[in-house]
Amino acid sequence: MPRMKALVLSGGSGTRLRPITHTSAKQLVPVANKPVLFYGLEAIAEAGITDVGIVVGDTADEIRQAVGDGSKLGIDVTYIPQDQPLGLAHAVLIAREFLGDDDFVMYLGDNFVVGGITGLVDAFRAERPDAQILLTRVPDPTSFGVAELDAHGRVRSLEEKPRHPKSDLALVGVYLFTPAVHEAVRAIEPSWRGELEITHAIQWLIDQGKDVRSTTVCGYWKDTGNVSDMLEVNRSVLETLRPGVEGTVDESSEIIGRVRIEAGAEVRGSRIVGPAVIGPGSVIRDSYIGPFTSISEDCRIEDSEVEYSIVLRESSITGVRRIETSLIGRNVQVTPAPRNPATHRLVLGDHSKVQISS
Ligand code: DAU
Repeated sequence: MPRMKALVLSGGSGTRLRPITHTSAKQLVPVANKPVLFYGLEAIAEAGITDVGIVVGDTADEIRQAVGDGSKLGIDVTYIPQDQPLGLAHAVLIAREFLGDDDFVMYLGDNFVVGGITGLVDAFRAERPDAQILLTRVPDPTSFGVAELDAHGRVRSLEEKPRHPKSDLALVGVYLFTPAVHEAVRAIEPSWRGELEITHAIQWLIDQGKDVRSTTVCGYWKDTGNVSDMLEVNRSVLETLRPGVEGTVDESSEIIGRVRIEAGAEVRGSRIVGPAVIGPGSVIRDSYIGPFTSISEDCRIEDSEVEYSIVLRESSITGVRRIETSLIGRNVQVTPAPRNPATHRLVLGDHSKVQISS
């Protein structure tokens, strides 16, 4: 079987525009207490690929610190620095030496594909079309690459972030290539946004009469800074969590369902209803942690209730009932407001009905 490599894109300029600015590398946004990039790297390892090139940019240090040499994940990582984020096809261009003449999967480090990529990689290895793309239906395709298929399901055209999309089939950030792509990335010109677009390179392959195939998947997520999407992907990953208690749980606590208490975490006088994860070094005291909640490392939850939420590192929640559907950043402190003497100044019309929480 031909040997395959992986090219993982974790470059791009750091952005602090998200609602929580816990990290400037969007590939390190945590899902169920694990950076989104790790799910991609694990999927690559699971597909039997160990030779992994990671393209890094401004946030290289953060990425290197998190991934290291890859041995923890069972892969062997080569870092490929990219001076400027000049496009996905530019990343292929600069990775030429690493890629050699091997087939490869290109994986965008901020993408999350439910169920991994093993089936996809196996099918590609067996049939070896020139390129294979992954598509998914999205409600608003204008912020993606968009594919138009012909009556036989073959890819007719690709457009990057079109204002008037020809379909609702968005390109997922996982692409499989034979070395045919190298000629394509050399042939194309930068787009209006100044980037060498991988969609243009694939379109070039199509125009040359190459065999470009597509598979449509469901179960896809990428970080767009949208909190409800993030809570939702966190929920779906927690549902597959491997439960276990590595930290300490005292006798007056109750753990129900799929719950993971990581090493060094401490649960006292609390009730935790899964699926939920409590990160290493966190303390949960006299509290309730409800389903679909991720508490990261070194947090402190006391005398509080938290459900369907994500709490990032080193944050504390004390004396608050109840937090729901929330994303709480790093190093945050949540406490109850001091009670002011209750005064209400009201002008109420006849027959009013008013409920006042006091
Ligand atoms: O996520 C899927 C979409 O990804 C596709 O539908 C689009 O066709 C594709 O162009 C891409 O669009 P984005 O504009 O969302 O890509 P973004 O700039 O966010 O980059 C994706 C990943 O690649 C991200 O982890 C950063 C990294 N990257 C990006 C560029 C432009 C690099 O490592 N180097 C780069 O030069």
